[in-house]
Amino acid sequence: MNDEDNKDDLDLDSPFRGTGGIKIFLIGFMGCGKSHWGRLLSQKLNVPFFDLDEKIVEHKGKSIPEIFASEGEEQFRLLEKDVLHLLSESHENFVMATGGGTPCFFNNIDYLKRQGTVVWINCSTDCLYHRLLKEKDKRPLVANTPDSELKSYIIKKYSSRKIFYQQATVILPEEVITIEDMVNKIFHAND
Ligand code: S3P
Repeated sequence: MNDEDNKDDLDLDSPFRGTGGIKIFLIGFMGCGKSHWGRLLSQKLNVPFFDLDEKIVEHKGKSIPEIFASEGEEQFRLLEKDVLHLLSESHENFVMATGGGTPCFFNNIDYLKRQGTVVWINCSTDCLYHRLLKEKDKRPLVANTPDSELKSYIIKKYSSRKIFYQQATVILPEEVITIEDMVNKIFHAND
């Protein structure tokens, strides 16, 4: 058993106590802050935090760029789906930061919504551009995009993915979120 398993018993101070488990999935474009907010939210709710990309890396023993390079995006998407199912079905309580493309392949968005509460961290394409400019290397989809073409790549990809992100139960504009606001909106998502 590890620390994450130990935390599976909900803290009595959690607003979700007595609800029979809480699974929160953060979705959104690369660079929107899913891991940052996911960590904060998991601490606030005292439940384990999973970063789907990190779990894929652990599972495969290769970095995300290495998986893309050696196996291709199609294999990565299959792996992503398998690890998503494995984690979701073996834990009762968690906050998970998914990858930017997770809800956009197979029927993952429907799966996420059946499993728990789906939260879209929405961020302006301007903000995504400034963040991704500094962090291109870790992300195979943009690693080879020249800086001069990055903004238009983001705008195009964002507009094709928005249709999936918009299906989230809760939509939060990243620029104005506080952790209290986030908990409140998630807690009242089904009111
Ligand atoms: C991807 C986003 C990445 C990672 C992979 C593919 C995407 O995760 O899963 O590089 O398709 O948008 P982050 O959103 O955490 O960067």
